[in-house]
Amino acid sequence: MSKASVVLGCFYGDEGKGRTTDYLGQFSDVSVRASGGNNAGHTIKVNGVKFAMRLIPSGILSNKTIAIIGNGVVLNPAVLLGEIDMLKSHDIDVDRFLKISDKAHVIFPYHANLDVMLENKRVHKIGTTKNGIGPAYCDKYERCGLRVGDMYRDDFESVLRQMVATKNELLAANNEPTCDVEEIVATYMEYAAKLKPYVCDTVTLLHKYLKEDKNMVVEGAQATLLDIDFGSYPYVTSSNPTIGGILTGTGLSVRDIGDVYGVIKAYSSRVGEGPYVTELCDEVGDRIRDLGHEYGTVTGRPRRCGWLDLVALKYAIDINGVNYINLNHLDTIGQFDIFKACVAYDVNGVETQDFSTNEEFLRTAKPVYKEFKGNFGDISACRTFEELPADAQDYIRFIEEYTGTFVKLIGTGADRECMIVREQ
Ligand code: IMO
Ligand code: MG
Repeated sequence: MSKASVVLGCFYGDEGKGRTTDYLGQFSDVSVRASGGNNAGHTIKVNGVKFAMRLIPSGILSNKTIAIIGNGVVLNPAVLLGEIDMLKSHDIDVDRFLKISDKAHVIFPYHANLDVMLENKRVHKIGTTKNGIGPAYCDKYERCGLRVGDMYRDDFESVLRQMVATKNELLAANNEPTCDVEEIVATYMEYAAKLKPYVCDTVTLLHKYLKEDKNMVVEGAQATLLDIDFGSYPYVTSSNPTIGGILTGTGLSVRDIGDVYGVIKAYSSRVGEGPYVTELCDEVGDRIRDLGHEYGTVTGRPRRCGWLDLVALKYAIDINGVNYINLNHLDTIGQFDIFKACVAYDVNGVETQDFSTNEEFLRTAKPVYKEFKGNFGDISACRTFEELPADAQDYIRFIEEYTGTFVKLIGTGADRECMIVREQ
């Protein structure tokens, strides 16, 4: 029986998880999304074409891998159907490979309206993606959410009408735009029909695939520090992008998990609000943003940028049981003469390597940096660790010693082949 490899973000998202999944996809028969929704944006470049994946696991791009949207996902049908069309226009056999959990929750237009309303009312803004992710998860836990499978029940139309009416009352009471019931009913009946061929019980299917010894990769979305429990609450997303959410979002058991890949960049970034210890609000941060093209995949929002935070990385490794690190953008950091990584926090004069998501702690902590030599030159053609310049090797060895975790995959450029794979 095979075990599933898991790919997880170790910081605030946008670490290049799509790259890792794409690499593992070469050997995988099945790829899976477990949590989040179209708040994710995973960029993968295949044969010179850039794909921005939001809901469908990027494994599908190999055109030979089954792609499963698990029960833990909140699903916007309009976005999904757009993604299906986009993939089909690139000759990807979506009809053959895509499977959608009947238990995934559906996002409706009122979720996005509520997302905007709630954000406007917040004293401490989160900077959500306004895709209705939080309100959709709220409905799930309040037990009034509608799941993909519910769209095929005889009473779907009447339940939906009632739900839109309830949400409209709330929106109207707050002077927010309401939703057109007839329009929602008509479009969602149409979405339901279009999605029906893909819908199934993915839990049973996943276990069947493992028993058939199929290679499986679970593609994480969002990241550890955006986790609703283990992230910098309240500046987080509304799901568990960490290892626990992988289990509850798929129905895999702890025994089904094999390697856990933790993905980071050689520097760091964050979108949205919230504390960020190693953020650089100066021209150095601007330079990282320009060199790393740190703008949102979907929204184009400029990302906040800073040095790599090894204190936070160690925490992410502990939370998720990471056994392999995937370090991306080594080429980007190598363009600096000198660059830094945070090796401890100074909290009111006391140095610590212990991370905490307590807001006051994170806002008080000052990064303690170690400097590294850059100027790596063009490393995009390096295919082995030994081919890398000595200073680049030193940086990676330092990360390994600090975290006690092997750096298995090293991103050396934007193209698919710019990836060093090391054997331990
Ligand atoms: P990927 O998978 C980066 C952030 C948002 C916001 C907070 C809450 O591409 O790494 P939400 O809309 O989820 O309620 O927003 O979480 N956020 C992400 N940031 N990458 C992501 O996904 C994100 N998904 C959510 O910017 O600060
Ligand atoms: Mg993103």
